[in-house]
Amino acid sequence: MTSKKTGAVPRHIAVIMDGNGRWAKRRLLPRLAGHKQGVESLRRCARACVERGVQVLTVFAFSSENWNRPQEEVSGLMSLLATALAKEVSQLSRDGVRLYFVGDRSSLSEKVRHGLAQAEQQTAHNTRLILNICFNYGGRWDIAQAAEKLAAQGVAITPESLDKAMALAHVPDPDLLIRTGGEMRISNFLLWQAAYSEMYFSASLWPDFDEAELDLAIGAFNGRERRFGQTSEQIQQPSTPTVTA
Ligand code: FPP
Repeated sequence: MTSKKTGAVPRHIAVIMDGNGRWAKRRLLPRLAGHKQGVESLRRCARACVERGVQVLTVFAFSSENWNRPQEEVSGLMSLLATALAKEVSQLSRDGVRLYFVGDRSSLSEKVRHGLAQAEQQTAHNTRLILNICFNYGGRWDIAQAAEKLAAQGVAITPESLDKAMALAHVPDPDLLIRTGGEMRISNFLLWQAAYSEMYFSASLWPDFDEAELDLAIGAFNGRERRFGQTSEQIQQPSTPTVTA
């Protein structure tokens, strides 16, 4: 997507799903109840993306820093992941969703790692939507692991080689990055890949983020001019190709 105000649907949407805890607190429920409702909201959002022709949805489910939350919440999120996999993967697969889990798997339990690999395998043939679930992911981790990989291979570190070694090398960069929950920061999410993403901040808590909210975000995206470092004039009147002898 390089043109101005195309009215087209973003090819890749990334989401920081914030606000589960507050959603639960307002209902005097434990925080985990908010995360459970967050899974419902994720299912709804994935289906809405399929219906709208979005090709890639990337969500932040557990950050490298989330290990610092109370032990009860961390283990709750781990078991929620296991339950969600058991419950949701078949339906996601029927909807044409291909799952990828993105992040550092080395500190996850053998059982969780097995579940992730199985879900990826089970959905590998699907082509309607790629759903990247970032779990134990951090933007700094991603850049560091890519650099480490290149160094180990003796490959020069350039923007292009790093790009190919990043954890999201299988998809184009996000066109639109949505954060729910009212905060306006990137919180170590796709630091490299969001270089030219359009940002959209929603005050809605993630469990309340529905199809109408998604359409508002897509509408806002469509009103933006994406310049990728060029001037507005260049975008509106693409230069004629240089003729070389
Ligand atoms: C941020 O809300 C949300 C998370 C840290 C977890 C996101 C997880 C889900 C939406 C469920 C999907 C997860 C799996 C396992 C597939 P917060 O807890 O920081 O909310 P708060 O800012 O209101 O406290």
